[in-house]
Amino acid sequence: MAQKIKNNVYFVGKVDWELRTFHGDELSTHHGTNYNSYLIKEQKTVLIDTVWGPFAEEFVQNLSREVDLKKIDAIVILHAEADHSGALPLLLKSIPHVPVYCTPNGAKALKGHYHQDMNLKIVRTGDTLDLGNGKKFVFLEAPMLHWPDTMFAYMPGENILFSNDAFGQHLATDKIWADLIDQAALWDEAIKYYANIIAPWSKLVDSKLKELKTLNWPIEMICTAHGACWRKDIHKIIEAYGAWANAYQENRISILYDSIWGGTRIMADAIAQGIREADSNVVVDVFNTAKHDKNDAATEVFRSKAILVGSPSHNKCMLSSVAKIVEELKGLAFQGKKAAAFGCYGWSGEAQKRLTGLLAEAGYEIVDEGITNLWEPDAEAVRKCVAYGRAFAQRVA
Ligand code: FEO
Repeated sequence: MAQKIKNNVYFVGKVDWELRTFHGDELSTHHGTNYNSYLIKEQKTVLIDTVWGPFAEEFVQNLSREVDLKKIDAIVILHAEADHSGALPLLLKSIPHVPVYCTPNGAKALKGHYHQDMNLKIVRTGDTLDLGNGKKFVFLEAPMLHWPDTMFAYMPGENILFSNDAFGQHLATDKIWADLIDQAALWDEAIKYYANIIAPWSKLVDSKLKELKTLNWPIEMICTAHGACWRKDIHKIIEAYGAWANAYQENRISILYDSIWGGTRIMADAIAQGIREADSNVVVDVFNTAKHDKNDAATEVFRSKAILVGSPSHNKCMLSSVAKIVEELKGLAFQGKKAAAFGCYGWSGEAQKRLTGLLAEAGYEIVDEGITNLWEPDAEAVRKCVAYGRAFAQRVA
């Protein structure tokens, strides 16, 4: 069922209430998601993006109730990833010759995904698509926000920016607008989306925001490809992206650890106690990497100014759940964060050195050599961990 966005612009996407993991099983989506697609019925009828493949049949059926498919004059694919282009092959069975507008990299990705002939029309920044009735799209390439092919489309007059993944959230909603959503859930999902999907490309985000400012387009609505769209206080999400793209941090320290028999957990708790004693304003969160959601933990790291990562030595390595999150953090490439490693060992104690090396490789400024403990912590070891936590808090203050 189409929902009106403004005048002749309609939402025709799919609300996926059930989705709990995205990108295969890489990304948790506790609140589901939307695959937002838009239908513009001006003199020309144009579709922006489609939905993920499993919903292709439903999408095409619903779309055919809104418009005679043969009357669609063009399809714009802002980003060729399967969650937005998945229904395109089925749709093109009904209208195989309809022009599909995309960037040069979009064309490569569509061919690479679907291996079928499409009437691709390549567009670049500044190119326009005339919609009739004095309306048009102006395209703005946005490479690596978050794929090389990504572009935005701006609709002057209606003053709508179609931003695809940027400014989105994995949040299933049929309410369309961000101002109608529970604000805590909205912003939790917006920052999680940025931290886990957009953050590696923060320099390009910053430059794209500056380019948008220079273009000085009046923007009344940002219509995203996931979650809710923005129509009130749009500056808040733009300013949030500006902050998130520039070595974002809050006065927080995250402690991530895994433990075999509980010794490294005792160290984590004692270090947290020391940090709190040294700085009552800093927020300290402690996560067991084997039990806590990886993407939620990564989001907390994104918000932190420093992290401590702990693992006992196990077969001369760190525990696998710790290795997993450290590899994840390397890919996410957060900027301006400090780190140190800790953990128990029984005889050789390789994990903390490996961890320190991997954290440095991931771009974290190593605060110190961290702290280790032979066998299980006794009262004296706990005292040393508390003292270490106090010192760490002072070093990262
Ligand atoms: Fe929502 Fe990059 O796809």
